[in-house]
Amino acid sequence: MAQEGNQRKGEPLLTVKGLKVHFPVYGGILRHKVGTVKAVDGVSFRLNRGETLGVVGESGSGKTTVGRAIINLHKPMYPDVELGGEILFHTESGQVDTNGITRDEMLPLRERIQMIFQDPFSSLNPRLTVQAIIEGPMKVHMNLTAAQRKDRVLDLLDRVGLQRSYAQRYPHEFSGGQRQRVGIARALATNPDLIIADEPVSALDVSIQAQVINLMMELQREFGLTYLFIAHDLSVVYHICDRIAVMYLGNLVEIGTADQVYKSPRHPYSKALLSAVPQPDPRSSNKGRIRLEGDIPTPMAKPSGCGFRTRCPIAKPSCAQDVPELRDVGNGQMVACPFV
Ligand SMILES: Nc1ncnc2c1ncn2[C@@H]1O[C@H](COP(=O)(O)OP(=O)(O)OP(=O)(O)O)[C@@H](O)[C@H]1O
Ligand code: SF4
Ligand SMILES: [Mg+2]
Repeated sequence: MAQEGNQRKGEPLLTVKGLKVHFPVYGGILRHKVGTVKAVDGVSFRLNRGETLGVVGESGSGKTTVGRAIINLHKPMYPDVELGGEILFHTESGQVDTNGITRDEMLPLRERIQMIFQDPFSSLNPRLTVQAIIEGPMKVHMNLTAAQRKDRVLDLLDRVGLQRSYAQRYPHEFSGGQRQRVGIARALATNPDLIIADEPVSALDVSIQAQVINLMMELQREFGLTYLFIAHDLSVVYHICDRIAVMYLGNLVEIGTADQVYKSPRHPYSKALLSAVPQPDPRSSNKGRIRLEGDIPTPMAKPSGCGFRTRCPIAKPSCAQDVPELRDVGNGQMVACPFV
């Protein structure tokens, strides 16, 4: 699989078209529908084999909801969630639209998409040994004997830089960085093509963050993995990602190569987000900074037209009319604003 992933590098793996994830909100004694949280409201992007796409944006912008939609977690948990658009997974035998399919229909694809979570303290079952945690997905998806699973767990512990003897220990015996390595080993257990990493280093000490990121990059090279890397910290994303997508209130406002978005962002929101990144050089720290006024509006009451207009420094009256489409502003850098 490692060779397969690397051989097919650059081929399309996932195409997301017009994805919508709307959660109905109920109120009153009779539990009437009183509104809709438009957590993801028309998001489109593609992901090629072997690349890392970063997704950044403020808290509540819909990053986790996109990740969970790809792995199809919403419908089983919230049966009345309203889903729209397509999530096309490219397989050897053609494209499969996984958006909203049942858990059983998803099962054959589920081993190929795994997730790494933000909090290594709550995402590992404290009552299971490391062995049991890592072999869990193998039991569901792979036809291996107990002895084969055990060997594979030991091999995975090697790969993520943990001692083999840790297999019989419990999560509470480890540091945050070690636990995240266990989480990574569990994600690798089924030989996935795609790993959705939802803020995988945000809960770790800065000194440990770089080690985990470097490990993820090594594993990507070795296994030909594709990453969707969700993060707050733009400097982390710049380091690991080939391309970066910026989300605001359920929409993508900009997408481009890591250099395009990090070094020359074009959308006013991306510029503001980048302005918030601390500058190593104090002389340049305040140059051209954009300060965002106010909080991100709630996705239950999205402004009409461009969702960013209530905070945008260059908003015009016409911005209240249509939701701006992403358009190419040069060299494939896509921006959802007609005024840049
Ligand atoms: N099951 C749900 N029911 C109702 N609203 C939800 C549900 N899940 C998420 N939301 C709302 O959808 C919006 C997007 O949430 P999401 O968790 O995707 O944001 P995020 O970008 O990952 O934020 P953070 O950076 O804080 O993790 C938020 O306003 C959130 O409250
Ligand atoms: S469309 Fe209007 S409000 Fe939205 S980013 Fe552009 S100028 Fe600002
Ligand atoms: Mg999140």
